[in-house]
Amino acid sequence: EKGGYPHFMLKEIHEQPRAIRETIAGRISEIDGDVRLSLGISEEEIMSLERVTIIACGTSYHAGMLARNLFVRAAGLPVDVEVASEFLSLQLRPRTLLVGITQSGETADTLLALKKAKTCGGRSLAITNVVGSTVTELVDGTIFTRCGPEIGVAATKTFTSQMVAVILLAIRLGRARGHLTPDQARKMLIELTKLPGLVQRVLEKREEIRKIAEMFAGASCYFFIGRDYLYPISLEGALKMKEIAYIPSEGYAGGELKHGPLALITEKTPVVALATCGKKIQSNIKEVRARGAEVIALATEGDPDIAKVASKVIELPETRPIYSAVLCTVAVQLLAYYTANKLGLPIDKPRNLAKCVTVE
Ligand code: M6R
Repeated sequence: EKGGYPHFMLKEIHEQPRAIRETIAGRISEIDGDVRLSLGISEEEIMSLERVTIIACGTSYHAGMLARNLFVRAAGLPVDVEVASEFLSLQLRPRTLLVGITQSGETADTLLALKKAKTCGGRSLAITNVVGSTVTELVDGTIFTRCGPEIGVAATKTFTSQMVAVILLAIRLGRARGHLTPDQARKMLIELTKLPGLVQRVLEKREEIRKIAEMFAGASCYFFIGRDYLYPISLEGALKMKEIAYIPSEGYAGGELKHGPLALITEKTPVVALATCGKKIQSNIKEVRARGAEVIALATEGDPDIAKVASKVIELPETRPIYSAVLCTVAVQLLAYYTANKLGLPIDKPRNLAKCVTVE
């Protein structure tokens, strides 16, 4: 049942090229430079949108965070991302599209928040992996990720497919609102079809990542830093490390380090720097190196500068920043997996956690 893998998590990490391909399948029209999604929302309604509010928990919340900068750039729409358990319906504004992200479709906090929000009117969507799940009954339209069941408690393939669903939605909204030209959208979509192959290339780096993970498995605290699209991935990397390797970990926006957490940085705190987009993160790498921290950098292949500042470099294929967030995700999943494996932990069923949280 684990297809020859020692854990479901590792199997599911390796299923990501396929899960992404399935999530894209039949939804791209290269001729029109558009995305086909049945959202249950008219073109006029999309035109008149003023805001998007996303509600989710845990890893799904990180997929929502990815939308924050993406929807502004692709569709000219500001986004609020809310942790479901903290959501107050009063916050919802008019002409707001409500989006619930939940792989199981059954997370109690997410369902409750969506119910509260619905009373304010407006259209709603779900992004979920489970056909027939409760969330699909609460919304006007659903985008299904098509990953097949995920057994490991740690979300892996469902997360990267949620990211792809968020990207498809951004392009659809951007096209409907005239914010993206057909040509711009077409270029993004053509590159998106190449993403499964790039993810495969990251998977082929597993031995390199395993060695690095094992080298730092004794760490008492890990830091993950990233900027822009890579900031949510830094949170996701830290969550994975906490969840399955039980190592206290912090995910930080690179620019926030000097506002407090830098005080924690020592030679005992490895820092994973998500450095595939932009040069600004390099100054953050220097900041932590100056405090003695080892830096594991995820960088674009052939980056001439990164080896000068980082202690270890994992090279990832070059692509657009938004897609490189998916590649960095796969790398941090493998890093957390091999750390937990080295520590001999029960990876598929971490202590105190359930796959689906059906209590508030
Ligand atoms: O089914 P959901 O996407 O609503 O689940 C939300 C969280 O419980 C879930 O993502 C959790 O954080 C994962 N175990 C993280 O790996």
